[in-house]
Amino acid sequence: MKLIFLGAPGTGKGTQASVLAEKYNIPQISTGDILRKAVAEGSELGQKAKAIMESGGLVSDDIIIGLIRERLAQPDCKPGYILDGFPRTIAQAESLDKLLAAQGGIDAVIYFDVAEDEIVRRLTSRRTCSQCGYNYNMISDPPPTDNTCEKCGGDIIQRDDDKEETVRHRLVVYNEKTAPLVDYYKKQNKLYTIDAARDVKKVRQDIINLYEKLAA
Ligand code: AP5
Repeated sequence: MKLIFLGAPGTGKGTQASVLAEKYNIPQISTGDILRKAVAEGSELGQKAKAIMESGGLVSDDIIIGLIRERLAQPDCKPGYILDGFPRTIAQAESLDKLLAAQGGIDAVIYFDVAEDEIVRRLTSRRTCSQCGYNYNMISDPPPTDNTCEKCGGDIIQRDDDKEETVRHRLVVYNEKTAPLVDYYKKQNKLYTIDAARDVKKVRQDIINLYEKLAA
C-alpha cells in the first residue's frame, strides 16, 4: 500500500507513521527526518537545508523531488510505504504523480485534521530524541526526567523549529503552500480525513481500520 500522510505540522503524522510502518512492515519516508539527518551530518544537502528549516520555510522542490525519486527506487519500497511530510506543494504532488504513473499512482492520502491552537500546543511541548528521532510530549507523553531517550539512550532536545514564533510561521507556510493539496487529492478521490485531535490510540485505530479496509 502506497500512502501519503498529509496535514499541518504537529498533527501527529510522524507519531502514527512510525507505528503503522512497523505494524505493516513498510518504510516510513519522512522528508523532515532525511533533511535533519543531512543537517546533523553536515553534508552538502544539510548545509543547503539548515537555515531554511530553522526559519520554518520549505526546502526547494527540486531538492526534495530528487531525494524522493532516489528513495522510492530502493528495494524496501516495493511492498509500499508511508510518505510523511511529502508532498508539500502542488509541484511536488505533480512530480509524484508522474513518478508513480506506471504503478497507478498513490493508493490513498490520509489527511490529519487538527485545529491550529492544538497544533501550537503540541509542537511547543514536543521534545525529540536527537539520536533516534522519537517524539515525546511534555503534556501527553513526557520524556524520562534525566532527558535520556528510553528507546536508544540519546539526548532529548527541543527542535529549533518548535519555538512558538517558528511554529506560527510554519503554519502560515502550510496554509499557503500545502493546504491546497487537500483539494488536489479530493479531486482524485484519494483523500480520507481523520479527526486527529483525539488521543493517539483512537487516531491510530481509525487509521488501522482504514488501512485494513483499503487493503482488503
Ligand atoms: P517535518 O519534520 O516534516 O515537520 P512537519 O511536517 O512540520 O511535521 P512535524 O514533525 O512538525 O509534525 P507531525 O505531524 O509529524 O507531528 P508529530 O507526530 O511529531 O519538516 C521539518 C522541516 O523540513 C520543514 O519545516 C521544511 O523546512 C523541511 N521539509 C520537510 N519536508 C519537506 C518537503 N516535502 N518540502 C519542502 N521542505 C520540507 O506530533 C507532534 C507532537 O504532538 C509530538 O510531541 C507528539 O507526541 C504529539 N502528539 C501526536 N499525536 C497526538 C495526539 N493525538 N494527541 C496529543 N498529542 C499528540
